[in-house]
Amino acid sequence: DTKIIDIDCNNIDEEKISFCGSILNRGGTVAFPTETVYGLGANALDEKAVKKIYEAKGRPSDNPLIIHISNIKDIEPLVWEIPEAANRAMKSFWPGPLTLIFKKSKIVPDIITAGLDTVAIRYPRHPIAEMLIKKAKVPIAAPSANLSGKPSPTKGSHVIQDLMGRVDAIVVGEDCNVGLESTVLDLTVDIPTILRPGGITKEMLEEIFDRVEVDPALKDQSILTPKSPGMKYTHYAPKADIVIYEGEESRVVNRIGEKVDELIANGKSVGIICTNETRNFYSVGLIKSVGSRKDMKTIASRLFGILRDFDDTDVDIILAEAIEEVELGQAIMNRLSKASGYRIKKV
Ligand code: TXA
Ligand code: MG
Repeated sequence: DTKIIDIDCNNIDEEKISFCGSILNRGGTVAFPTETVYGLGANALDEKAVKKIYEAKGRPSDNPLIIHISNIKDIEPLVWEIPEAANRAMKSFWPGPLTLIFKKSKIVPDIITAGLDTVAIRYPRHPIAEMLIKKAKVPIAAPSANLSGKPSPTKGSHVIQDLMGRVDAIVVGEDCNVGLESTVLDLTVDIPTILRPGGITKEMLEEIFDRVEVDPALKDQSILTPKSPGMKYTHYAPKADIVIYEGEESRVVNRIGEKVDELIANGKSVGIICTNETRNFYSVGLIKSVGSRKDMKTIASRLFGILRDFDDTDVDIILAEAIEEVELGQAIMNRLSKASGYRIKKV
């Protein structure tokens, strides 16, 4: 059975974290909050422990895991080399929502990297995550703490819903403030390349690198072998179908409005994902605003929770407004597009 451990982020009970650290140190599994999403951790250097992660999540074994550390120096034994670009990225953005891809060292087990010769490493910016990794005294492999196929968990209740009875402990803290998984940046190539957009945006990376590329597989669904294997799974697919409407605001609102009427006339139960700016233009359907278009951070932090909330309803189809793909909007639209199976209508 799974122990649930409540922690107040502003007054962390060190003893409780030590207890969870020792579970990890002895080869157990502990879910814990990070600033991006909740992670499901195990000792990264213990193959048997890592196997428990894949089993608990029902995760395909060809999808590699991120190793979490609590001190920049802890990368040294895990990587073959530390390129200059990595030093710059770590100095600017660690701890934080940025995962870096390195050439791996021999001690990293194949089960972590799914057989690749590279390894993904992240130093999270979260007091509970940081203390827990320190107390575990080992690097911690941690994918998002959802069942495979569900949106990543941004609240303790999401983790409990997915993993109760499947892991040794769940640490419940506050809701995750970034709300989308970390940016994955490949530094094993000449030009730093974003494999997954996230909280550290392309614009932020361009402040420290002359050039930053984006993996073409993010935009072109015909590429079946993206460099980040996770990008090929329909990860965030909710129960209802999602269709995204993209274009000038008033046209989007009109088209969604017409479509809702048509669907309801055909007996469908319809959801709408809109923004504070457009909320009042809709009157029928289950309407949820992700927040203000002027506040992308809030939209990012609320998106997965809203997708999960729709899963608890009987909505058959969700019509969603697109968000502008700049800064955090790139990560938001990446996740929303994936959830929709890339059904995007330009209006
Ligand atoms: O924010 C996050 O990154 C969260 C928290 C818990 O830290 N973790 C997370 O892990 O999102 P996961 O396993 O759900 O996603 C890891 C992503 C996958 O898309 C995987 O394919 C990619 O990182 N990845 C892992 N190792 C890789 C490698 N060596 N090369 C390329 N991509 C890799
Ligand atoms: Mg995940």
